Amino acid sequence: MTEYAVRITRLSYSYPDGVRALEAVDLDVRVGERVAIVGPSGAGKSTLLLHLNGVLSGSGMVRIMGQALEGSDLREVRKHVGLVFQDPHDQLFCPTVFDDVAFGPLSLGVPQGEVSQRVDRALHEVGLDLSMRLRSSHHLSLGECKRVAIATVLAMEPEILALDEPSSNLDPRNRRHLIEVIGNLPVTLLLATHDLEMVLALCSRAVVMDRGRVWADGETRRLFSDRKLMEEHGLEVPLSLRTAVVG
Ligand SMILES: Nc1ncnc2c1ncn2[C@@H]1O[C@H](COP(=O)(O)OP(=O)(O)OP(=O)(O)O)[C@@H](O)[C@H]1O
Ligand SMILES: [Mg+2]
Repeated sequence: MTEYAVRITRLSYSYPDGVRALEAVDLDVRVGERVAIVGPSGAGKSTLLLHLNGVLSGSGMVRIMGQALEGSDLREVRKHVGLVFQDPHDQLFCPTVFDDVAFGPLSLGVPQGEVSQRVDRALHEVGLDLSMRLRSSHHLSLGECKRVAIATVLAMEPEILALDEPSSNLDPRNRRHLIEVIGNLPVTLLLATHDLEMVLALCSRAVVMDRGRVWADGETRRLFSDRKLMEEHGLEVPLSLRTAVVG
């Protein structure tokens, strides 16, 4: 059993139009760790997550469960890594919610009867009523769509979960429910988000990215309490960590 779920070494990436999005990023995540990736818009958080299952491929090295991504069978890698895209519309392409959520398990060869159970469980985990199964994913509200996108990945029961802004567009009740569900999953978690309170609830380790680089990597409360660090990178000390001013 490998000690590291994810090992990223000197990863750099430029988009085809020349935008330099990642610059020599190093990040090691141990099996079972829950790590947040925070930073201002355009920092490179989504670009980094897109390297975890080979959607993008930069220079440097990405290893998943000890296996280098370069030259590997991406279908094998995708059994390990469940990636939820920032924009749920990038994730959903089937005629119904059921088909979208069933697609992953079916492609992994999960038997039909179990697929149906997995779909129901995943929809329940994201707080969606089972009557949603036959709805078209394209006619859902953005928050519903986001939850279906998360369900498509939960149904695959990956060992590594990479979530890009999972709480965006969720109402408070569904956000709270999602935090509980994620907190109870026995997975390695990489969470890119602006929702710092969610990070405090889920991740004991955080990484601050800005302009394609990692600027800090450490204990979440320590990093988030560092006002200078936070403000230098377009962030704020979360409300729950600010010391109450009396009088
Ligand atoms: N398809 C693309 N083509 C060209 N440049 C891109 C593309 N996608 C992202 N970029 C650029 O790459 C950089 C990193 O973007 P990325 O989406 O990874 O940031 P982010 O940290 O996820 O931001 P946000 O918090 O807004 O989601 C930005 O400068 C962005 O403009
Ligand atoms: Mg992003």
